[in-house]
Amino acid sequence: MIAIGSDHGGFALKQAVMQHLSALGLEYKDYGTYTEESCDYPIYAEAVARAVTSGAAEKGILICGTGIGVSIAANKVQGIRAALCGDCYSAEYTRRHNDANVLALGARVTGAGLAEKIVDTFLQTGFEGGRHARRVALISDLEARERT
Ligand code: RB5
Repeated sequence: MIAIGSDHGGFALKQAVMQHLSALGLEYKDYGTYTEESCDYPIYAEAVARAVTSGAAEKGILICGTGIGVSIAANKVQGIRAALCGDCYSAEYTRRHNDANVLALGARVTGAGLAEKIVDTFLQTGFEGGRHARRVALISDLEARERT
């Protein structure tokens, strides 16, 4: 299952991405927002991030105007590696090298057609492991030290 969420700035692109996921036969859950009324992106970033860290979702997709606010907020949740991607190369390599578990998109930056390709790349690409596993483990160590 894929957890998806947005603020008002990402609402329209989220509808397009959800339609795309449906067309691919992929299961998802929409964690809001559910209207275009102005709202606060950290709320939806946290909901999607917790869906991922709890195991309810395998991956998350977050969308706001720039993609920056939701990625900053999601990365505050322990265990989240959220990557803001505006191109397919970044989407591929953040999966291969960073084992990113949340994709952030900027609706005011990236058009729906490209966003869908980025989503496909992110969801289809696996983590390489090896030396990258050591580096991802160092990120977790850093996170743990910050919390003590
Ligand atoms: C909302 O206007 C906008 O600030 C938000 O969607 C996002 O871009 C924040 O990073």
